[in-house]
Amino acid sequence: MRIFITGSNRGIGLEFAKQYLERGERVFASCRNPINANELQHLWKTYISQLTILPLDVTNEEAIKAATQTVKSHTDGIDLLINNAGIGTRELSIDENDKLSTFGKLDHKKLLNMIEVNAIAPVMVTQQFHDLLLKGNNPKVINISSIQGSIDHNSSGGSYGYKASKAALNMYSKTLANDLLPEKIYTMMFHPGWVQTDMGGQSASLTPEESVSNMIDLIDGFGKAQTGRFFNYNGKELEW
Ligand SMILES: NC(=O)c1ccc[n+]([C@@H]2O[C@H](COP(=O)([O-])OP(=O)(O)OC[C@H]3O[C@@H](n4cnc5c(N)ncnc54)[C@H](OP(=O)(O)O)[C@@H]3O)[C@@H](O)[C@H]2O)c1
Repeated sequence: MRIFITGSNRGIGLEFAKQYLERGERVFASCRNPINANELQHLWKTYISQLTILPLDVTNEEAIKAATQTVKSHTDGIDLLINNAGIGTRELSIDENDKLSTFGKLDHKKLLNMIEVNAIAPVMVTQQFHDLLLKGNNPKVINISSIQGSIDHNSSGGSYGYKASKAALNMYSKTLANDLLPEKIYTMMFHPGWVQTDMGGQSASLTPEESVSNMIDLIDGFGKAQTGRFFNYNGKELEW
């Protein structure tokens, strides 16, 4: 399988790259700063013939185009696109967090930026990868969303930026799934669980290994019947 992953230098994206490499897949691992991506560079030493590391800031359309050109210089199609890159608030200072999360302190530009990275970028990446996906074998698009994007699930205030960006991602993804269905490109959304990453924090309930191995098993079995649907990492369907 030929797999393209965004935000693969750490956390869940890195774990997807690791696990797919271990089982012999061809991985295009993108990240903002390949030179500083020590763990990816380390993987490259072991999986030199399976792994290409490439630069990609998902908000930069020229960079997305350049990434597709790099992929095309290696292969004619992509079988699995994982839109994983995202931003949260855990790493921010209290002041910066408030601008995204706290009513009374919300900041227009910060909110827009979060929607740009978490919701718009995955659609723009998929749009530019469309011709590669059309040439893929049983091509799938996996968008890493969050339960926090579920309106049914929302029973608290706060976290405006993150919640709205993931709700927007869900709508973009569902619409994309409808558009891509006739082309037999299937699109699904995942909540990866609460995962021990920089974003999830160390008290999160799942390791990246647990979350990602579950999602990989599910992705293997996913097809037309699952397109346009929103799943927890354990396979349970989630409410919008
Ligand atoms: N961890 C959880 O509990 C949890 C729960 C629900 C959903 N999620 C979702 O899972 C996905 C992965 O999160 P994670 O927990 O692995 O977080 P993480 O450890 O903070 O990693 C986030 C990744 O996204 C990348 N990224 C951020 N902005 C980017 C941009 N503009 N262009 C390209 N890459 C960018 C980061 O790159 P840099 O290193 O360059 O910053 C990093 O590789 C996210 O979409 C997140 O919303 C996570």
